[in-house]
This record gives sequence, C-alpha cells and structure tokens, in this order.
Amino acid sequence: MSFRTHFCGTLSQADDGSQVTLAGWVDVRRDLGGLIFIELRDHTGRIQLVSDPHQTPDVHDVFETLRNEYVIQVKGKVRTRPEGTQNRELRSGAVEVVPSSVIVLNKATNLPLQLEDFEQADEAFRLKYRFLDLRREEMQNNIRIRHKITQAIREYLVQQGYLEIETPILTRSTPEGARDYLVPSRTQTGKFFALPQSPQLFKQLLMISGFEKYFQVARCFRDEDLRADRQPEFTQIDIEQSFATVDSVINMAEGLVKSAFEAVDKEITLPISRMSYTEAMNRFGSDKPDLRFGLELIDFSEIMENSGFEAFAKIAKQGGSVRGICVPKTANWSRKEFDDLRSLAMKPEFGAKGLAWISYKAEGEVSPIAKFFKADELAAIKQKAKAESEDTIFFVADKPDIVYQVLGRLRLYLANKLGLIDSKLDKLVWIVDWPLLEKDPETGAVHFANHPFTSVKPEDAHLLDIEPESAKALAYDIVYNGVELGGGSIRNHQEEIQRKAFHLLGMNDEEAEAKFGFLLQALSMGAPPHGGIALGLDRLVMMLAGATSLRQVIAFPKVQSASCLLTNAPSEVDNNQLRELGLKINKK
Ligand code: AMO
Ligand code: AMP
Repeated sequence: MSFRTHFCGTLSQADDGSQVTLAGWVDVRRDLGGLIFIELRDHTGRIQLVSDPHQTPDVHDVFETLRNEYVIQVKGKVRTRPEGTQNRELRSGAVEVVPSSVIVLNKATNLPLQLEDFEQADEAFRLKYRFLDLRREEMQNNIRIRHKITQAIREYLVQQGYLEIETPILTRSTPEGARDYLVPSRTQTGKFFALPQSPQLFKQLLMISGFEKYFQVARCFRDEDLRADRQPEFTQIDIEQSFATVDSVINMAEGLVKSAFEAVDKEITLPISRMSYTEAMNRFGSDKPDLRFGLELIDFSEIMENSGFEAFAKIAKQGGSVRGICVPKTANWSRKEFDDLRSLAMKPEFGAKGLAWISYKAEGEVSPIAKFFKADELAAIKQKAKAESEDTIFFVADKPDIVYQVLGRLRLYLANKLGLIDSKLDKLVWIVDWPLLEKDPETGAVHFANHPFTSVKPEDAHLLDIEPESAKALAYDIVYNGVELGGGSIRNHQEEIQRKAFHLLGMNDEEAEAKFGFLLQALSMGAPPHGGIALGLDRLVMMLAGATSLRQVIAFPKVQSASCLLTNAPSEVDNNQLRELGLKINKK
C-alpha cells in the first residue's frame, strides 16, 4: 500500500467524484462547531478537507484532535465545492475532499511558533528552526526556483557539449583573494588541506587533459567577511573552454544567463552590452555599476584647478580628482539632512574627507562653498552638471580611487533614499578591459586584480616590463543590477608567461615552484589556449527570485559569524580528535 494516490495541489474539478488517498501536513484547521475544515498541505500545494460529525463521526473525532503541522493520511472522495465557497487563489480551490478515514502518521508537538508567524520572527530564530521555516510557501518557492535555474543551466551546458566533472574539496590553496578554510591531515601531522576557494587550477588542468569543455556546479569556500551577498560556502557554475576567446566565453555565458532567466519566465535581450572598467569607474564610480538609474559622476577637476576654492584647487593640481553627482529634488533638504549625508560620506566605509554641495533653489545657488567661486566658475559648474532647479550637486575631492568609492556609494545610497530605482528593470552589463594588476594604496604591494592566472591583453604585454599597472587583462565580469554575478578570464597557457606573472607578484622561482609547480609543469606539456568563467549561482538565484539576501535562497545558510545556528557548527571537538591530529588549542 502506498501513502497516497494523488497530490493535494494538483486535484481539480476533473477529479470530481474520485476516491483519493492523500498524505501531508495540517496547514490550517478551522472548527466551525459543526463542520471541521482542514487545509492539507504537501509539496504540490493545499486542498481543503471537510468533516461532518453526522456523516463520519470516527473521522470527526480524529479531526478534533488534530493540530497544525500534524502529519496525516486521509482517504476520501473529491467533490466540487459549493458555489461561492471556491478558493480561486488555489489551483485545487474548486474542489474539496470528504474523508472516509484518517490516520495520524505523526504529531507535531512543541512547535516554537506557528508557521504563519515565522515571517515576522527574527532571522536567528528562523535559522535555528530552519526545517520549519523551509516549510513556508515563500521559502519552498525560493528553493524550487534555485532547482529550476540549476537544472536549466545544466541542460544548456550539456546541450552545448560541456562535460560535468567534479574536482577535489580536500586540496591545496587556490588563490582567489580570500582566507582559506583549512583541514588538518591526520596521516601527515602538521600538514593541512585547504578547501577550494574555486576549482580554478583543476579546471585549467582539465583543459590540459584535453576535455576542452568543462563545467561543474561547484561548492567554494572563502573565509571572508560576510555580507548579504556573500556566504563562506557558496556555489559557482564553474566553466572552462579550450581554444577560448573573450567572445566565445561571453557568448556561451550569455546563452547560459538567458536559460536561467527563461527558467523563471523572464526575458532578456542578447547581446548584453559591454563597458570598459575605466568607463564604469568614470561614469558610476564602481566596477559593478547599477544601470537602472542615472546620477552619473561628473568631473569638475578642470574647473576647480584654477578656482578660488583652495581646498579643491590644490587637490586638482596635485593629480587628484574633484567629481560630483547632480541629484534631483534635494535643494530643499533641511540643514540636518545635508549634515547627515556629509557624516555618512565621512564614515570609514565611504571614506570621504568632506562633502561639499551647491543647491539650486528658486532664489539662486545656496551652498557653503559658493562664496569661494567667481560668477563664471559657478556658471561653468552649473553648466557642466546640467543642473536644474531643485537639484543639488555633491562634490568630493581626493585621490581618484577614493573619489570613485565615495561617489559610487553615495550614488547608490541616494538612489535608494530618493526612490530613483525602478525595481522592475533588469540591467545586465559586461565589464571588460580590467587592469591586470592593482596596487595596494597603503603598502604599495602589487597583486592581481583577478587571479594570477589571468592573461594580459596581447597588445599590452610590453607594458609588463615598463609600467605593469597600466596593462589591461583579458578579463570580464558580468553585472546584474549592480551585483557582480560572475567573472572570468582568458588564462596564461604558456609556462614562461605564467612564471612571469608569479614574478610580478614578487614570488621567486623557488616559491612559485613550491606552490604551483604542478601547474607550471602541466603548462609546459602541451597546454591549449584556454579561458572560462564562474557565475555565482546563489547570487543569480537571489536576483531572479527577487530576494535581498543569499540566505533566502540557500537551504541551510550561515550567519554573519560564519556559523550555522541550526547545528551550532563550528563546534569544539574532543581532545582525542585533537591529539590524533597533533593539534593543541591555545585559548585566547
Ligand atoms: P570570482 O572570485 O570572481 O572568480 O568568483 C566568481 C563568482 O562567484 C561568486 N562569489 C560568491 N558568492 C557568494 N559568496 C561569496 N563569498 C562569493 N565569492 C564569489 C560571485 C563571483 O562573481 N575562479 C574564478 C573564475 C574564473 O576565473 O573562471 C573565480 O572564482 O558571483
Ligand atoms: P572647509 O573649507 O574645510 O570648511 O570645507 C568647506 C566645505 O567643503 C565643507 O562642506 C567640507 O565638508 C567640504 N570639503 C572639504 N574637503 C573636502 C573634500 N576633500 N571633498 C569634498 N568636500 C570637502
């Protein structure tokens, strides 16, 4: 005997008169004195059960004892619900089931909260009882959307001839810029595995092995500060092609993104536009610009250089930058609103040294700095910004990196505050022509903007010896409404060039050999040109599900402190385990 013949959510008028067996959870129970109604829930949806004490007294006795979330099995007959009592919101809302028998398969005791109240509960509580939280329709939908998207992507890639290959989880460090999660080896005391930050090196080795088209739904681990769009363990759709070009990777990835959109009945027009890194920084102050609204950065450096405002003139003359954004409907802000925005801009996460502004009111310019400028300078500023009545221009002067950071963040903050973002828009863009290297502004140390396996643009190769910071990379990122969805590059496939990349990082041959000897060796044995990309699956699902945090689309996510509130991981281990591993805990 099986538990059921039908599913709750799929019953319809076509089943009128059928005998069915159903199993599921008591979603809601309504006792109307005479009749008892129960909404029975399974993974397909809900159906109404009705019991009448006069017709089926035995069933009714059991129904009286049922509570929310009890697991039951019922046998009964489907009938059309009387006119006026049909629930049009449910697919199965036109019919109900009159049970002839009921079995309680399990009780639900000590529910900490009714499911319907979970939405209002705080997140820590919801995560502690994640198995209950996940029963809710909203969470069920998110996880189902994730499945649909994952399968659509798999289908697309398989159809394009990609092979799904698993790579090790216990491995060596893979440099993607975060801290490693380490796993001590028991058999080799004092040695550690690192969990992969990405399958980067293995996918390159698979190209050297001749597979040509690889993909993996790959779990990655990065010990970094968590945010709404970052988890310590997350999933990449990781892809690599042999004989790849920037266009071949981008074209493949665009088809993939399209298949993901279609999985949730969304449309997207291809090709997705491309913007250089430099343009993104100049116009939006960000390498992941949100293109759903304007508020573009305006360069006032030239006007300021010879102006009477010493603070700005000095910065502009010394190679710094004075830029601003022109924001509508802010001229009538209170003094406090302006001061609050300045305080925000000067917080460490924004990083400004100050914030200046000029407002355009009916009576003319109102500004704490207008007095420093001559009339023609004020006119030039207004014209450059195309400022209109009720606008305010906000200015930041500093080193270009800082100006971009502050204005890029203010731009986002103000667009949200002023409601300038049309949430129905989907704006995708490729950011291309990345710098190969970055210089740490504090230490001066050079590191790779992407990872050290990224190839320089061939026309910039000569710069590596003279002016490496100016060299551009064959790298690309895909950005969706201001969120970095994925990134990749064409790789160094020749050993000498990869060696040179390690030298640029300040590694000598010995260090390079110790860390990446296996890669260098493989590159010297017939490595084809290759390249690829990794898309953040969690982020893609978050965006397509309309969620605001990765935690909403991961079944069992971690919280800020990188712990799991459900299982209480990480946890202490007993001394025997430590002894076997040759480890001793030094309590701080
Ligand atoms: P990258 O480091 O840019 O590239 O990662 C690719 C994508 O993975 C997602 N992602 C994350 N998602 C959630 N939580 C995190 N902590 C997290 N970190 C990254 C992002 C990101 O765009 N090996 C290269 C790819 C390549 O060169 O082919 C790599 O890992 O969506
Ligand atoms: P001060 O002359 O220092 O009183 O500054 C006048 C105005 O310019 C104040 O509103 C400051 O916040 C602003 N300001 C000073 N330095 C900067 C800077 N580097 N960038 C933007 N605004 C600044």
